[in-house]
Amino acid sequence: MEIKKYIFEPHGDDRGQLVALEELKDIPFDVKRVYYMYDTTPGVTRGKHAHKCLQQIMICVHGSCKVLLDDGKEKEIFLLDKPNEGIYISNDIWREMFDFSTDAVLMVLASELYDESDYIRDYNQFIEYIER
Ligand code: TYD
Repeated sequence: MEIKKYIFEPHGDDRGQLVALEELKDIPFDVKRVYYMYDTTPGVTRGKHAHKCLQQIMICVHGSCKVLLDDGKEKEIFLLDKPNEGIYISNDIWREMFDFSTDAVLMVLASELYDESDYIRDYNQFIEYIER
């Protein structure tokens, strides 16, 4: 499974750091939506779904969390713990986010607006869908 890790250039100076993300430049798609998770209850796993069309970049802009990615054949776990590092997640990838630090803010840039019909929320259905 080829998962792309993105390192975003911080524009640092003696005042601190700044990361800018531009669609089709730093992010490989048109960004239609941004959302973020915070105050995540300790021990929970979020996500547990795949998307039929949506692409995403996930960045843990504060704190840390882990992301499991599964293409139906291989599974990989990534630690997101830097505000200038992200992972690209294409469509047809099952994802689970877990091990959130109490201060974690997980930001997601998405290629589509929210559309529940793009979700596959059942793992067996996901396997059936990608084997079609
Ligand atoms: P949910 O899909 O359960 O989060 P995750 O699978 O990433 O853990 O989303 C939680 C709630 O937020 C659910 O009621 C749907 C809503 N939601 C929106 O309204 N817009 C969005 O862009 C997203 C991602 C979720």
